[in-house]
Amino acid sequence: MSLYQLFKGKGPSGFGYGSTAEEVTAGLSLAGKTILVTGCNSGLGFEAMRVLSMRGARVLGTARTLEKAKAACDAVGDQAVPLACELSEPASVRTCVDAVIAGGHRLDAVICNAGIMALPKRELAHGIELQFFTNHIGHFILVTGLLDRLAEDGRVVMLSSAAHTMAPKEGIRFDDLAAAKGYTPWGHYGQSKLANLLFAKELARRFAGTRKTANAVHPGVIRTKLGRHMPGIARFTFGLVGPLVLKSVPQGAATEVYVAVHPGVATTSGAYFADANLATPRADADDPALAKKLWEVSESIVAGLPAR
Ligand SMILES: NC(=O)c1ccc[n+]([C@@H]2O[C@H](COP(=O)([O-])OP(=O)(O)OC[C@H]3O[C@@H](n4cnc5c(N)ncnc54)[C@H](OP(=O)(O)O)[C@@H]3O)[C@@H](O)[C@H]2O)c1
Repeated sequence: MSLYQLFKGKGPSGFGYGSTAEEVTAGLSLAGKTILVTGCNSGLGFEAMRVLSMRGARVLGTARTLEKAKAACDAVGDQAVPLACELSEPASVRTCVDAVIAGGHRLDAVICNAGIMALPKRELAHGIELQFFTNHIGHFILVTGLLDRLAEDGRVVMLSSAAHTMAPKEGIRFDDLAAAKGYTPWGHYGQSKLANLLFAKELARRFAGTRKTANAVHPGVIRTKLGRHMPGIARFTFGLVGPLVLKSVPQGAATEVYVAVHPGVATTSGAYFADANLATPRADADDPALAKKLWEVSESIVAGLPAR
C-alpha cells in the first residue's frame, strides 16, 4: 500500500485513489458482456483483462503481435480472445477491426488502453510523430472502424493521462504533427494524451441522443513498462520510492475498468475520470471546436494512409 493512499479518501462514487479493479467490480456479473482491451499483454491492460475476465466478460485482448496477445489471454483463462493490433501500423489495426467483425462480436465496451510514453527521440509513423500516431491515430482507426459493432449502450474508454496538461499551450500542433519544428518527449506525449481526451469528447458529442458513451480516464501514476524510455536515474528513483508513493497496478487498472462496466456511470458521457471519480481536465480539453478539428484532421490523415 502506498503511503499517499493513506491521505486520499474515497470520492462520491464510493471509490478512490486506493480502490483496485477487483474492488470497483465487486459483486458485478459481466457474463454475456464482450469487452475489447488494447495493450492486454502488459501493465494496466493485462490487469483490466484479468479482472474483467474474472467477472465473467469475454475479453478481446489485443497486443502488437498475436503471440503476445495469445500468451496474455492464455494467462487469464479460456474466455479471452487474442487479436493482433499494432497501432502504429494501419493495416494491422484494420485487420483487427475485420477480425472483430468477422467474429460477430457485439462490443459492450472498448478500452483504448495501449500507449507509449516519452520517446527520447523524435520518431515517425507514416509521417506523423509516433506517440500521436500510436496513442491517438491507431485508436482512432480502431474505434471508428468498430462503431457499428458497439452495443446500444456500449462504452468507449480512452486512456488519457494527467500528462495531457503537458501538451503545447495551443493544444494540438496541427501545423506540425510530424514535430519537424521541435520535439520534446513529454510535450509530445502530453499532446497525444490530450488527443485521447478530445477524441472521447467528440465521440460523446456524436453519441448524443443514443445510450452509447465515451469517456477518458487518468489511471494514476503506476510503475509499469510505460516508463521504459525514461532516463535510468528516473527509473531507479521510481523503483525506489514507487511502492511508497505510486499506485499499484491493480489500483491503476481500477478507473478504466470502473468507467467501462460500472452501472453508476452508464449514462455519463464526455467526462474525464481519475481515481474512479469525475475529474477536471485542463480547460481546452473541454473545447468542442478543438475536439471537432482533431476529429476532422484525424479523418484526413487516415484517408491518406495506405488502405492495406
Ligand atoms: N503507468 C502510468 O503511470 C500511466 C499514467 C497515465 C496514463 N497511463 C496510460 O495508461 C495506459 C497503459 O499504460 P501502462 O502503464 O499499462 O503501460 P505498459 O505496461 O507499457 O503497457 C502499454 C501497452 O501498450 C502496448 N503498446 C505500445 N505500443 C503499441 C503499439 N504500437 N501497438 C499496440 N500496442 C502497443 C504495449 O505493448 P508492448 O508490451 O508490446 O510494448 C503494452 O501492452 C497507456 O495509455 C498510458 O499512456 C499510464
